[in-house]
Amino acid sequence: MHHRRLLVVFLLLVIATFCFVQCFREPAYADPRGSSYAGIASCVQCHGDIVNSYSHTSHFNASAPVVDDSIRKTFRNNPITVNYTNGQKVVLEEIDGNAMQSLYAGDKRLLSEKMDIAFGSGEKAQTFAYWKDDQVFQLPLTYLTYLNLWTNSPGFPVDHPYYTRPVISKCFECHSSYAFHYNRATGSMKIKETFSPASIVYGIDCERCHGPAKQHVDFHLKNPAEKKAKHLTAIQLLNRTQQSDLCGTCHSGNAASLKSIFAFTPGDSLKDYLLYYPGSLNNPDVHGMQMQSLQQSACYKQSTLTCLTCHNPHQVKKQTWETLTAACTSCHHQSPHSSQMIQEKKNCISCHMPLQSSKSLDFKNSTGRKSIPYTLRTHRIAVYPESAWQ
Ligand code: HEC
Ligand code: HEC
Ligand code: HEC
Ligand code: HEC
Ligand code: HEC
Ligand code: HEC
Ligand code: HEC
Repeated sequence: MHHRRLLVVFLLLVIATFCFVQCFREPAYADPRGSSYAGIASCVQCHGDIVNSYSHTSHFNASAPVVDDSIRKTFRNNPITVNYTNGQKVVLEEIDGNAMQSLYAGDKRLLSEKMDIAFGSGEKAQTFAYWKDDQVFQLPLTYLTYLNLWTNSPGFPVDHPYYTRPVISKCFECHSSYAFHYNRATGSMKIKETFSPASIVYGIDCERCHGPAKQHVDFHLKNPAEKKAKHLTAIQLLNRTQQSDLCGTCHSGNAASLKSIFAFTPGDSLKDYLLYYPGSLNNPDVHGMQMQSLQQSACYKQSTLTCLTCHNPHQVKKQTWETLTAACTSCHHQSPHSSQMIQEKKNCISCHMPLQSSKSLDFKNSTGRKSIPYTLRTHRIAVYPESAWQ
C-alpha cells in the first residue's frame, strides 16, 4: 500500500514538473491540418533559398488576409466609385483605417463591408471577401490589374450592387492550403458553408504540393548528416500521369468532387477525387484548364512533356524571349520556319499558344453592360490561323 502511494506522489510530481516546463517554453506550432504537417516556417532552416524564391510566386500569394496598407494606399486620397444602373453605387473607401466597399444610394451609406480576404495574387486580377459571422461573402468590386480597373465582380448582376454571394470552400481548395468548413443543409436546397477562421492556411504552401512533411522535418533535424530526403514523396520519380494530376488538382477546372482536394498528396490519382477524370473534356476553357488543353496537343501526345518542362513551381515566371522559346526549341531543334518570320514575332508562343478570352469568366461593366475580356494563353499548342495570333 505504502509503495503504491509513493508511486502516485512520484507520478504527480513528474506530471507537475512536465507541465511547469511546458508552460515556460515557446508554444509549439500547431498546424490546423493536423500533427503530420509542419508549416512553411519550419522549412526555412534547410531550404531557405527555395522558401525565399517561392514566397514571391503567385501560388504563395493566391489568397491572403488583407492586413497591409497596399490596397488602401490606392484609394486613400481618391475614393473609387462604381455606378450601377439602379442608381446605386459602390465606393472603395477607408473607414477607421480599414479598406471598405460601401453601398450608397445618393449620399446615404446603406452598407459597408470590410475587405477581409484577397483572392488572387493580383497577377491578372484580385477579388475580395468579407467575414459575416462564420460565413465568407465575395464583395461586389474586383480589381483587374491588366487594365488598372475596379469593376463588377465576375458573374455578378449588373443592375445592382451585390453583397450576398457566398465564397464556397472550392475557392479555398484551389487558392489556399487549408480551410476547415462545415456543411449544413439549411431549409432550402442550398448548402450553407461555414468556416473556422483560425483553421485557414492562406496561400498555397510547400506541403500543399509535397504533402505532410512533419516526419521529414523531425527526421532531418535529428539526422543533420543525412543528405538524402526521407519521409517525402519525390515528385521527380512519379510517373507522368501522377505529375500531371498533381498540377491538375487545381488546373483542370471546377469539376464536381467526390472528396475535398485538400487531402490530395503527390502520387495520388485525381480519379479518386473528381467525379470524372477531367482529361476527356472537349474544348476546355483557357481559364483554369491548362491540364486538359495541354493533353490535347501533339507535343503532349507524342513526347514526355509535362508542366514541369516549362514551369518551375518554385520560381516567379520569367517572361523573356529566351525562356519561353528555349522550352520549345529544347524539343523542336529544327524549327520549321524561316528564321526571319520568328525574329519578327520574337517567340513561338504568340502563334502557337495565342492569347484567348475566357468563356467562363464573365466580367460585365456595371453601367455599360459591356463584357471585359479576360485573356490567357491557351495550352493547346497547335497551328492557329493568323487572325488568332497575339
Ligand atoms: C533539418 C533540415 C530539413 C528541414 C527542416 C526540411 N527539410 Fe526538406 N530536405 C532536407 C534534406 C537534407 C533533403 C535532401 C537534399 C535536398 O534535396 O535538398 C530534403 C529534401 C526535400 C525535398 C525533396 C524530396 C525528394 O526526394 O526529392 C522536399 C520536397 C522537401 N525537402 C520539402 C521540405 C518541406 C516542405 C519542408 C518544411 C515543411 C522541409 N523539407 C524541411 C532537409 C530538411
Ligand atoms: C492547390 C492548387 C494548385 C496546385 C496544386 C497547383 N496550382 Fe498552379 N495555380 C493555382 C492558382 C490558384 C493559381 C493562380 C494564382 C494567382 O495568381 O492568384 C496558379 C497559377 C499558376 C501559374 C501562373 C502563375 C505563375 O506562377 O507563373 C502557373 C504557371 C502554375 N500555376 C503552374 C502550376 C504547376 C506547374 C503546378 C504543378 C507542379 C501547379 N501549378 C499546381 C493553383 C494550384
Ligand atoms: C506548386 C507545387 C509546389 C509547391 C507549392 C512547392 N513545390 Fe517543391 N517541388 C515541386 C515539384 C513539381 C518538384 C519536382 C521538380 C522537378 O522534378 O523538376 C519540387 C521539388 C522540390 C525539391 C527537390 C528539388 C529541388 O529543387 O531542390 C525541394 C527541396 C522542394 N521542392 C522544396 C519545396 C519547398 C521548401 C517549398 C515551399 C517553400 C516547395 N517545394 C513548394 C512542386 C512544388
Ligand atoms: C479548380 C481550381 C480553382 C477554383 C475552384 C477557383 N480558382 Fe481562382 N484560379 C485558379 C487558377 C488555376 C487560376 C490562375 C490561372 C487561370 O486563370 O487559369 C485562378 C485565378 C484566379 C484569380 C486571378 C488571379 C491572378 O492574379 O491571376 C482570381 C481573382 C481568382 N482565381 C479567384 C477565385 C475565386 C473567388 C474563386 C471561388 C469563387 C476561385 N478563384 C475558384 C483556380 C481555381
Ligand atoms: C511547352 C511549354 C509549356 C507547358 C508544357 C506548360 N506551360 Fe503553362 N505556360 C507556358 C507559357 C509560354 C505561358 C505564358 C507565360 C507568360 O505569358 O509569361 C504559360 C502560362 C501558364 C499559366 C498562366 C496563364 C497565363 O496565360 O498567364 C498557367 C496557370 C500555366 N501556364 C499552367 C500550366 C500547367 C498547369 C501546365 C501543365 C498542365 C502547363 N502550364 C504546361 C508554357 C507551358
Ligand atoms: C517535350 C518535347 C516538346 C516540347 C517541349 C514542345 N514540343 Fe511541340 N511537339 C513535340 C512533338 C513530339 C510534336 C509532334 C511531332 C511534330 O509535329 O514535330 C510536336 C508538335 C508541335 C506542333 C505541331 C502541332 C500540330 O498540331 O501539328 C507545333 C506547332 C509545336 N509542336 C509547337 C511547339 C511550341 C511552340 C512549343 C513551346 C511552347 C513546343 N512545341 C514544345 C514535342 C515538343
Ligand atoms: C509568326 C507565327 C509563327 C511563329 C512565330 C512560329 N510559328 Fe511555328 N508555325 C506557324 C504556322 C503558320 C505553321 C503551319 C505550317 C507553316 O505554315 O509553316 C507552323 C508550324 C509549326 C510546326 C509544325 C510543323 C509541321 O511540319 O507540322 C512546328 C513544330 C512549329 N511551327 C514550331 C515552332 C517553333 C518551335 C517556333 C519558335 C521557335 C515557332 N513555330 C514560331 C506559325 C508560327
